[in-house]
Amino acid sequence: MIVISLLNRKGGAGKTTASVNLAAIFAELKGKRVLLTDIDPQANATTYLDKYISKDETSVYDVICNDVPTRSAIIDTNINNLKLIPSNVNLDKADTFLTTLPMAKEFVLKKKLKEIDSEFDYVIIDCPPARNNLTTNALTASDYTILPCEATEYGIDSIFAMNEFISNIQQCVNSNLKVAGILFTKKENTSVQKFYVEQFKAALKSYHFFDTEIRKTTIVEKSLTEHQPLIIYGKREEVTKDYIKVADELEKIIKETGK
Ligand SMILES: Nc1ncnc2c1ncn2[C@@H]1O[C@H](COP(=O)(O)OP(=O)(O)OP(=O)(O)O)[C@@H](O)[C@H]1O
Ligand SMILES: [Mg+2]
Repeated sequence: MIVISLLNRKGGAGKTTASVNLAAIFAELKGKRVLLTDIDPQANATTYLDKYISKDETSVYDVICNDVPTRSAIIDTNINNLKLIPSNVNLDKADTFLTTLPMAKEFVLKKKLKEIDSEFDYVIIDCPPARNNLTTNALTASDYTILPCEATEYGIDSIFAMNEFISNIQQCVNSNLKVAGILFTKKENTSVQKFYVEQFKAALKSYHFFDTEIRKTTIVEKSLTEHQPLIIYGKREEVTKDYIKVADELEKIIKETGK
């Protein structure tokens, strides 16, 4: 089982869109057994897949804070081979809960995912836009992280902020964590965006950048409104092909660097 977290503390960077669509491509197109884990209290990945979990239903909150068996929180989706651990607003309480744990608060999610280790090829974690106990747990549990971001000045700042966070995780709790790469999302062919891409690459020489950039298009919003990942909503759309290429690149990276 390979665990991949989609991370950026900047809101709206494209984490959820990338998480759901990469998970759906690995599951539907590549036939992998995939578990999408939504650890954002906004529950956007859960909603994208047309699932709504009331406060009384089992969610990722119960897995992390109430130690319910991980298996009991996993639900089916409409996509072949794709399962989901859904989130809901209860997860707002998780960060404080984790703070109060006397020991090993970084390792809770890692321990809970171990319970289903042999049942999935990939676990994809959609992180909230924050550097907090939840994202620390995601990175502690992960083999790889992908940093989706927009090619803007604020985008560069957010990656610098994540850089320090990731280094701390690698040094303190998870030396196995690798940065698969920076993924440009909502990319337009403007000279301003090209300028920022160059700035990024010059400023972050030690990072890998995915060769494929995800183009900006209204198709993404439409797929969200229909609650259908791109591979189902529009298999032949150019943006779907972008995500398929990113999935191919990711598999190559895992093959070359993996366990
Ligand atoms: N390639 C794209 N083209 C156009 N719109 C996009 C694209 N990717 C994402 N979006 C839109 O941008 C918005 C933010 O995307 P998304 O929810 O994936 O970001 P996020 O990083 O998960 O946000 P948050 O930090 O709030 O969790 C959404 O409305 C989404 O539909
Ligand atoms: Mg999100």
